[in-house]
Formats: sequence, C-alpha cells, structure tokens
Amino acid sequence: MISFESLSFTYQGGNVPALKDICLTVPDGGFLGVIGPAGAGKTTLARAVSGIVPHAYRGDFYGSVKVHDMDTVDTPLTDLSRCVGMVFQDVDSQIISTMVEDELLYGLENFGVPHAEIPERLDFALDRVGIPELRERAISSLSGGQRQKVAIASVIALRPRVLVLDEPTGELDPVSSRQIFSLLKSLQRDFGTTVIVVEQKIMLLCEFADSLAVMKDGALAYQGQTREVLTHAEELLDLGVNCPRVTRLSRHLSDRLGKPLPVCVNLEEAEKQARELMA
Ligand SMILES: Nc1ncnc2c1ncn2[C@@H]1O[C@H](COP(=O)(O)OP(=O)(O)O)[C@@H](O)[C@H]1O
Ligand SMILES: [Mg+2]
Repeated sequence: MISFESLSFTYQGGNVPALKDICLTVPDGGFLGVIGPAGAGKTTLARAVSGIVPHAYRGDFYGSVKVHDMDTVDTPLTDLSRCVGMVFQDVDSQIISTMVEDELLYGLENFGVPHAEIPERLDFALDRVGIPELRERAISSLSGGQRQKVAIASVIALRPRVLVLDEPTGELDPVSSRQIFSLLKSLQRDFGTTVIVVEQKIMLLCEFADSLAVMKDGALAYQGQTREVLTHAEELLDLGVNCPRVTRLSRHLSDRLGKPLPVCVNLEEAEKQARELMA
C-alpha cells in the first residue's frame, strides 16, 4: 500500500506549498489517476511517491509518505527506486544513453538483473510498448513520442512493484495513448503492479483508473472511486477538469428525465443506458 499522511511540501525557495495536507491511500495493485490544472501539484505528488521529493528536490516536508512500509524520508533513494519506477513528465531529463537498447540495459545492469534474464526483459518491454523496431536506433533520431515510449519501456523492463507515470502520453497520438494505458492495465492485472498515472486525457483515466485524485492548488479537491468522483461533474468543471462526454450525457439525461441515472464512464455503458431508456 502507498499512503500519504497529511503530507505538505514547499520547495526550497518556493513561497507557497506545492502540496497541502494530502491524505491518500492507494492499495497494492490499485490504479490511481491524478488530474488537475497546471500547477496543481500533480508532478510534486508523483515525485513524493518516488522519493525524489524530498531527497533530490529539497524543501519543507511535513507529514509522511509510506510505500510498502518504507517511509520515503528514512529510506535511501536507491532502495526506493527498486520498488518504485517513475517516468518523468520531461522524459529527456531521464534518458541518459545515446542508443535505445543501451537505455534499457543501463537500468537492468544497474539493478543487477542476472544476465540470463536480460534478453527476455528487453524483448518484453520493447514489445509491450510497441517499439521493437526502435531497438538499434539512436535516441537523438527519435520523435518526442518515441522517446516517451523508450522511457516507459526502460522503466517497465525493471518490473517495479509500483509504477508512477507523469503525463506519459503527452506527446502521443490517441492510438498510442490508448496502447500505453492498455499496457498499464495489463501490468496491473498480470503482475499486480500498482499504477499511479498523472494524465490530462480524462477519457482514458475514466476508462482505466480504479480511482481518481483531483488536485487543485496543491490540495486534493476530490478523491475516490472513478465513478464516484465523476458524479461531481459541475464542480470538476469549475476546477478546469472536463468530464468525458458520455458522463455529461448521462447527467444531462438524468436532469431532463428528472430521475437519477447511473453515471456512465465509457461508450459501452452510455450505449446500454440509451438503449434501455428508449426501450
Ligand atoms: N523544482 C521546483 N522548485 C520550486 N517550485 C516548484 C518546482 N517544481 C514545481 N514547483 C512549484 O510547485 C507547484 C506545483 O507544481 P507541479 O507539481 O509541477 O504541478 P503540476 O504538475 O500539477 O503542473 C507550482 O507552484 C510550481 O511552480
Ligand atoms: Mg506536472
């Protein structure tokens, strides 16, 4: 389990807290989506799970974060990084090699993965992210989206128990974005990986995340099961978070018909609801 207990954090030199009194738990094998406007503290929250806040980004840190019983303040980053794999919002700050394969190998060798296991890990990561053909390429020749996929592949090759991804689809088209979310879901399902993903694409979050945390001004504005959070459609809109169209449609119908209807979070549910209403 990952738990935030009244975490507040102000970056050194910052005059306002980037995180304010965050209380949040993510169960083992859970899939949490984090959303909110720019500057809300999403990246800082992600950094706090991986421990780089406060180990690499110093500041005033109050409260605690525990990842599988490790207190992130007391646990060295090298130990935390074996458990938590993180894909940074700015992937270029994370990539250190010049060739794609070397980038994946670097992490595997650093973690002391037995040599016999390495080829399988490489194939798995490159295949699952859908970039086997990039293996021999120079990183400098890749597009932003391709570099994003390399960063994701090098983290999943390490098979961390917890995956934290900060806007991993920012440079990706809708097809690749969905592919990455399907991959995250399969890691959750097949290996019990805990997934925490900061994402602006609300439709993807609603479809794949079990729970949502909506941030605003460093605080948690809403958190809970995805469906439950979406019942606050109007309030979310005030925070600059748009609900998926299917969710707005079911709420609109509910208002029109003057009776409560379950919130739809994907197209299949909306279609089913529409059919039932017309029947
Ligand atoms: N390295 C840093 N040093 C100082 N302040 C920072 C740093 N990174 C982020 N902040 C500040 O922390 C707040 C939250 O930022 P961030 O976590 O990046 O939000 P988001 O990811 O939601 O856009 C902002 O006010 C931002 O200016
Ligand atoms: Mg951010």
